[in-house]
Amino acid sequence: MLLHLSTWSEVEGFLTRSKTVVVPIGSNEQHGPTGLLGTDWLCPEIIAHEAQKSGDILVAPTFNIGMAQHHLGFPGTISLRPSTFIAAIGDWCRSLSTHGFEKIYFLNGHGGNVASIEAAFSELYAEASFAGRPRGFACKLKNWWELKGVTALANSQFPVGHGSHATPSEIAVTQWAYPDAIKTADYAPKIAPTGPIREAADFRARYPDGRMGSDPAQATPEKGGDLVRAAAAGLLEDVAAFAAEVSPG
Ligand code: NI
Repeated sequence: MLLHLSTWSEVEGFLTRSKTVVVPIGSNEQHGPTGLLGTDWLCPEIIAHEAQKSGDILVAPTFNIGMAQHHLGFPGTISLRPSTFIAAIGDWCRSLSTHGFEKIYFLNGHGGNVASIEAAFSELYAEASFAGRPRGFACKLKNWWELKGVTALANSQFPVGHGSHATPSEIAVTQWAYPDAIKTADYAPKIAPTGPIREAADFRARYPDGRMGSDPAQATPEKGGDLVRAAAAGLLEDVAAFAAEVSPG
């Protein structure tokens, strides 16, 4: 069930059978010469939308702008600073909890978001603690590539040149969902360099075409479809386990 294609009364009805909601979250940032700017928000959205076709989960609108300051040296990147991102995640969660959602599951597509999402959770828990609110409210963060079976599948598909940014696995997922937007380029070098992530000017100097450690030429829509099916199954299993968690005592 997609929240943005539902009515308020349908959401009210969903709340009678579940207090859990899934929020795809990512980033709009450069992904090398052939990766779509939306890659990091498209991947969790594609997976969550696929999963809700076969499972009774509610998927909120995609939180599609994240913490990507290091990619701002490349046109098209849009970033929130960490403090803005943390504040915005907090208000999304407060809005949803107002309606009765107690378990908020973020399916993430961007490694650079992780620290800020965890900090946002800490802010929310601190509010609950200081206010003496009863237990029950919980947030969870899962990176889509950490869903059951996904990393093993990606390792078998791309044993060499997977890398950490503009990876063949994430680009394959977008190719499967948006075959009309597939791009090609001659990569030089074939496998991109690796190193630290700092600010935008340093990033562009270290990684001139935007890739980190990856060879995206290995991506195909077929491999992407296999990844989406594995991830969607893993998501349903993980959300069900989170929804079933009971506070002890
Ligand atoms: Ni990415």
